[in-house]
Amino acid sequence: MKVLVTGGTGLVGMALQHLVKEKNEAKEGEEWIFLSSKDANLMNMEETRAVFKKHQPTHVIHLAAMVGGLFRNMKYNLDFWRNNVYINDNVLEAAHEAGAVKVVSCLSTCIFPDKTTYPIDETMIHNGPPHESNFGYSYAKRMIDIHNRAYYQKHGRIFTAVIPTNVFGPHDNFNIEDGHVLPGLIHKVYLAQKEGTPFVVWGSGKPRRQFIYSYDLARLFLWVLHEYSEVDPIILSVGEEDELSIKEAADAVVQAMGFEGEVKFDTTKSDGQFKKTASNSKMFRYLPEFKFTPFKDALKETCDWFVANYDTARK
Ligand SMILES: NC(=O)c1ccc[n+]([C@@H]2O[C@H](COP(=O)([O-])OP(=O)(O)OC[C@H]3O[C@@H](n4cnc5c(N)ncnc54)[C@H](OP(=O)(O)O)[C@@H]3O)[C@@H](O)[C@H]2O)c1
Repeated sequence: MKVLVTGGTGLVGMALQHLVKEKNEAKEGEEWIFLSSKDANLMNMEETRAVFKKHQPTHVIHLAAMVGGLFRNMKYNLDFWRNNVYINDNVLEAAHEAGAVKVVSCLSTCIFPDKTTYPIDETMIHNGPPHESNFGYSYAKRMIDIHNRAYYQKHGRIFTAVIPTNVFGPHDNFNIEDGHVLPGLIHKVYLAQKEGTPFVVWGSGKPRRQFIYSYDLARLFLWVLHEYSEVDPIILSVGEEDELSIKEAADAVVQAMGFEGEVKFDTTKSDGQFKKTASNSKMFRYLPEFKFTPFKDALKETCDWFVANYDTARK
C-alpha cells in the first residue's frame, strides 16, 4: 500500500505526518509520500500526471486546496472556484490513471446549504445554495462528491470524501486577514499581549462553530483510509453539544494565552454564516468509542505551539 498525500504540508497534512512519522500510527508495510506545492502545481494537469506517474500510489489522501477564512473567501470567490475545480479534477483523474484504488478527499461543513434544517447531515450537501460569502469554494468542493459518484459508476473506484468542521492545530495559517477564525484569534491575542492593546474580535461573537483538533481529524483520516468503504461522504465532527459561539472561543483563547487586557467586538465586520451545526451520528455509528481531545487541551497545545514557533509559523 503506497499512500500519496496531496497538500501534505498544510494544517491537516502536517497532523497526518505527525501521526505517521512520529507516532507510528500507519500500518506495517505502508509507504507514505507527502506532497507540497513545490513537488507539483496540481492546478496543472501535466505536472499532476507526472507526480502521480512518478509515485504510482495505490491510495490517495487528497488535501491540497486553496483554503481560507471568511474574509479571504469573500474577496476571492472566482479564484476559490477555479483553482479548486482544476486541482480536484486533475488529482482525481491522475489518481485514476495511475491505478489508485481509493482516494479520500476533503470537503467541509461550510459547503452545506445556507438555508437548512439542523443538524446538517451527509445527505444534504446538494439541497440548496451555500452561504454567499464562500460560494466559489463551496460549489468547487461539492463537485468532488459528483466526481466520486461518477468514478464509481464508470470505473468502480472507491473515491470518497470526508466532511470536517473547522479544523485547528499546530501548523495552521495564523494570518489574521486570510486564515480561519481560531488561528486568527490566537494571533490577535498574541499581538494584543505583546503590544498592550485591546484584543479585537471581528463580528458580533454570536455565530456558532464546531472545532476539530487537527490530530483528531488525522486519526479519523487513517480510519477512513483503512476501513471506510462507502463512496458517500462522512462528516467528521465533535458533537452538536460541543458547538461554541465565537465569543466562547475567544474567551477560551484569552484563558489559554493568559491574556488580561480588554476584549472588544468590532460589529462593523461581517459575521459570515450564523451556524452550520453538523451531526456526527454516522461517524459514531461506525466508531462508537472514539474520543475527541477536550477543546481546552487542544487549544492550549495549539497556543503553546504558536508562541514557541512564532518566527516560522504561517502568518
Ligand atoms: N482548515 C480548515 O478549517 C478546514 C475545514 C474543513 C475542510 N478543510 C479542507 O482540508 C484540506 C486541508 O486544509 P488545510 O487547512 O490543511 O489547508 P492548508 O493548511 O492551507 O494547506 C493547503 C495545502 O495544499 C497545498 N496546495 C495548495 N495549492 C496547491 C497547488 N496549486 N498545488 C499543489 N499543492 C497545493 C499546500 O502546499 P504548500 O504548503 O506548498 O503551499 C498545502 O500543503 C483542504 O482540502 C480544505 O479544504 C479545511
